[in-house]
Amino acid sequence: MKTLVIVTHPNIEASNWNKSWLKELQKHGDITIHELHKKYPDENIDVSAEQRLIEAHDRIIFQYPLYWYSTPPLLKKWFDSVLLYGWAYGPDGNKTEGKEVGVAISTYGTEESYQATGFNRYTLQEILRPMEALAHFISAKYLPHFSLNDTSDVTNERLVQSSLDYVQHIKTVKPVKPVEVAQ
Ligand SMILES: Cc1cc2nc3c(=O)[nH]c(=O)nc-3n(C[C@H](O)[C@H](O)[C@H](O)COP(=O)(O)O)c2cc1C
Repeated sequence: MKTLVIVTHPNIEASNWNKSWLKELQKHGDITIHELHKKYPDENIDVSAEQRLIEAHDRIIFQYPLYWYSTPPLLKKWFDSVLLYGWAYGPDGNKTEGKEVGVAISTYGTEESYQATGFNRYTLQEILRPMEALAHFISAKYLPHFSLNDTSDVTNERLVQSSLDYVQHIKTVKPVKPVEVAQ
């Protein structure tokens, strides 16, 4: 199982959580790390290179801070540019088939706020439905997400623990059983 983590953070130097996760990942030589903003400071994505990278891995984790209940813009651009018809979907578009796709996010909102009765009104599982749908569309298997909430509560203990939990999650997570859908 070859794992690729695609990190998208517009300002990783100023980050607490994503930077800490990244540093922990760097201790694990069996995980390929790909930082989109570092690779493409001009946001000019090399589509062929990205597709080759995906083809060379089995498990792809998208790591990012939650921005407006969505991804930072460069990751959205990456989806639009890389997951092409004829490659990821459509006739002969089978290059992502059977791969595992997962998400790791940090959120300012607390765990309680991401509930039906909480401030954000929806759970993170619900907010991440577009990612789950994306995985399904490209014939990949969706993995349960990893999240760290309440990002303003920065302590060394939380940083260390979440980084260890994150890597453990990446290495052990199993795909969600797909819901049976009538054809
Ligand atoms: C443009 C922008 C949009 C954001 N949108 C959300 C949001 O929708 N929900 C949320 O819980 N936090 C939101 N946040 C807070 C970030 O998710 C939070 O700052 C980040 O996860 C902290 O991680 P870091 O220390 O790695 O930067 C937003 C922050 C920015 C800058």
